[in-house]
Amino acid sequence: MVEEADLKELPGVGPATADKLIDSEYDSLESIAVATPTELSASADVGEKTANKIINAAREEADIGGFETGNKLLEKREEVSKITTRCDEFDDLLNGGVETQTITELYGEYGSGKTQIAHQLAVSVQLSEEEGGLDSKAVYIDTENSFRPERIKQMSEGLGLDPEEVLDNIFVARAYNSNHQMLLVEKAQELAKDLREEEGKAPKLLVIDSLTSHFRAEFIGRGALAERQQKLNKHLHEVIKFTNLFNATALVTNQVQSNPDSFFGDPTRPIGGNILGHIATFRLYLRKSKGDKRIARLVDSPCIPEGEGIFLIKEEGIRDA
Ligand code: GTP
Ligand code: MG
Repeated sequence: MVEEADLKELPGVGPATADKLIDSEYDSLESIAVATPTELSASADVGEKTANKIINAAREEADIGGFETGNKLLEKREEVSKITTRCDEFDDLLNGGVETQTITELYGEYGSGKTQIAHQLAVSVQLSEEEGGLDSKAVYIDTENSFRPERIKQMSEGLGLDPEEVLDNIFVARAYNSNHQMLLVEKAQELAKDLREEEGKAPKLLVIDSLTSHFRAEFIGRGALAERQQKLNKHLHEVIKFTNLFNATALVTNQVQSNPDSFFGDPTRPIGGNILGHIATFRLYLRKSKGDKRIARLVDSPCIPEGEGIFLIKEEGIRDA
């Protein structure tokens, strides 16, 4: 974070603009450097031309990440591992399971299975590597009060695991609003560091269920859109940091837009818009089918072709159809 004085050194930023920037969470050169002129101009009450100038200057000043050699990246990619969903078709869609160093987004309407999959992964991450897990623990940020220990118990028994032990390895926090939710990701980093020091292992799964509900409820209307996206962007960067620091995976859920204001709008658009689309590496669209049947569709992945898979929600967990 930079002092107000630093922001004022940017061309076009006087004291009043600096205050507005800080109020809208543009409180570091990095956050300004990655902003779009439209967002910044709305938040700081300056013209787009000025916003552009401010962003360019911040880019020159800020350390927004440099270059790494291809080999270094390959080395990092070699550490990537996967967690099974316990459904082969679902795993196949993802080329073997939910990947570490990655954000996976599940979006879909109510009852489509987002929370059930999140529960399943919190259990299967604890399986041994031979069984498709990472022999690890889970951190679970619950924003809708939908975490159910009883479901974890059923799913543990479904895999022949001791429910009490499994529940002991899931750290759950309820997030009461978007600020609290953001703070909890920082807390999760502290928790993971402590566990790594104490036990030699950090949790490999971070769940945020749901990523967007608080943001959606708190930032209403077009005027609040830029601020909401800016905050969500910041939040997601902390989530990415978690996945990189601990070679962990993040699973986030998202509801679909009901689009009351647009008759011709696509009712299957996820909330959160572009920022989330560019950051989540795997996006899965879930929809209901008959009975306990659900369909998952992989949408815009960088390296895997689009495809669909069927999964079931059973008492013992997510299973093959
Ligand atoms: P929202 O959070 O409301 O957006 O929905 P979601 O996508 O998170 O839905 P969720 O994952 O909670 O799925 C709920 C559905 O899972 C229910 O409608 C049930 O069909 C199914 N389900 C939940 N628990 C059980 C269970 O114990 N047994 C079986 N067979 N199905 C269950
Ligand atoms: Mg849910």
